[in-house]
Amino acid sequence: MTTTDARKKDRWGSQLGVILAVSGSAVGLGNFLRFPGQVVGNGGGAFMIPYVVSLLVVAIPLATAEWALGRSGGRHGYHSPAGVYYSASNRSAFWGAMGSFATVAPFIIGMYYVFIEAWCLVYAAQYLGGALAPLGIGFSVAPSSPPGLFFDDAQGYENFFGSLVGIGKNGALFSLKTSTALFATLACAGINFLLVYRGVSRGIERFCKAAAPLILLCSIAVIIRVITLGNPTGLPGRSFLDGLGFMWNPTREVATASGEVVRVGVCETLANPDVWLAATSQIFFSVSICLGAVCTYASYVKPRGDVALSSLAATATNEFCEVGFGGLMSIPPAIMFLGARASGSFASSFALGFVVLPNVFGLMPFGQFWGFLFFFLLLLAAVTSSVSMIQPMVALLQESRGWTRERSASVAATVNLVGTLVICWYTLKLGALDVFDFWVANFLPLVTAIIQTVVVCFVWGEPALRSEIARGSRIKPPLFLVTVVKYVSFPYMILVVLFWSCRNMGTRIHEIANSPVAQISLVFMSIVGIATLALATGAAKRWRRIADADATER
Ligand code: PFF
Repeated sequence: MTTTDARKKDRWGSQLGVILAVSGSAVGLGNFLRFPGQVVGNGGGAFMIPYVVSLLVVAIPLATAEWALGRSGGRHGYHSPAGVYYSASNRSAFWGAMGSFATVAPFIIGMYYVFIEAWCLVYAAQYLGGALAPLGIGFSVAPSSPPGLFFDDAQGYENFFGSLVGIGKNGALFSLKTSTALFATLACAGINFLLVYRGVSRGIERFCKAAAPLILLCSIAVIIRVITLGNPTGLPGRSFLDGLGFMWNPTREVATASGEVVRVGVCETLANPDVWLAATSQIFFSVSICLGAVCTYASYVKPRGDVALSSLAATATNEFCEVGFGGLMSIPPAIMFLGARASGSFASSFALGFVVLPNVFGLMPFGQFWGFLFFFLLLLAAVTSSVSMIQPMVALLQESRGWTRERSASVAATVNLVGTLVICWYTLKLGALDVFDFWVANFLPLVTAIIQTVVVCFVWGEPALRSEIARGSRIKPPLFLVTVVKYVSFPYMILVVLFWSCRNMGTRIHEIANSPVAQISLVFMSIVGIATLALATGAAKRWRRIADADATER
């Protein structure tokens, strides 16, 4: 298959480069902010049981299958999920069109991810400049207050965050006085655009190679600081181990609505389907599987590049950063300084990262430095993820319209920015962001995963998958991996979707019916989705025409 010459030139420079790029896509805000919130909100240590089950039965097998699928598509000249599915399905226009889901899901996630990236940029810059210095913004520890009740005094950071993101009013960011986050968002969108514009090896790979050691160094520094804090308040129940225990203990005490404290055991937590749903979507979001990014990145791997090893390396890196770094970095220090009283905010990743942790840095010696380091780390990790969200759409534009990479990147970035601006406008209680996040980061990944698994197992087929994984592989992936995808991952995901739909769909539909912002957000997402479907359908026709013309020439 030959379409544009430009597409053929885009390849990763090295095996290490692709592993770092895919790991960069996986390691992001999901590891450092979303994961700790999910663990605490869903039963602590008990949550890790469905989490590890999802990792083993979904993430590892599906990631390997996605790498193989992507590389096979790339060998045939396709890089977008639509093109990859089209190629795997022996040129079926229907399956090509189905690839539009895996293209549009990361693209829409990118629309709000860049907004959160902007918050990290502002926080890092404010720490660096001293404006968010310890106890700097209306945050004071009254000498009379008993030690340890700091959190109650700390409205300052909450106010700072609220006014930064325009939480009180729609359109707040579009007034010059309160537009810092808007300008930061434009800056972050610009950085993402430039990286994608320069292409996979000169833009994305170079950036990921430079960012990876910095992310690692910053993480290690922050973790060493957390571990060596001892018991900073001297109060009982506030040591590092207590912090760890709060996050990881499998049984926990929870206050009921009537104020009574009850003990929730492991079995009770595991009997709750919401915990399984949360664990599965955390895995999808965090490992970035079945969301187009891995499929597209793998399509730029050299034909004999190793997919089994690369996929394992990228998944392992992600888990190391998520469970090791993300699990140590935020909640333990919050418990050490603020105590379990702060825990009401832990389930919301935003409150944890942007309100609770600044309070913690405010109380730490040299908190200004640690605050800067933490948000700088988040920013880097977020950018290496967000570039991977736009690339599948850029590839689709190249393949479906025959445009150059530069033109495709410009169009994709512009449409992405429109979505970001919609989210930046509807900031009242972060209404639009919540709706976008729920539908594309929680629900859509399950749909895209099911479609992709059908393509892999029932359309492309087991023999093709097996031989693709084996091609150029330095490790021997166990043969049962393919069987696991078909007989375990697939039914597991169907079960999770059914569970989810039975429990949550009604509530969600009710919410949409009562919220104009939810309706506007969903209409916007649907328009982008339909346009992507039209692009993918048009692309399949174009590929057919080119193949027919090639055949006649021969
Ligand atoms: N894995 C990223 C994170 O943990 O923040 C998020 C992500 C990246 C989601 C790429 C989807 C995607 F395509």
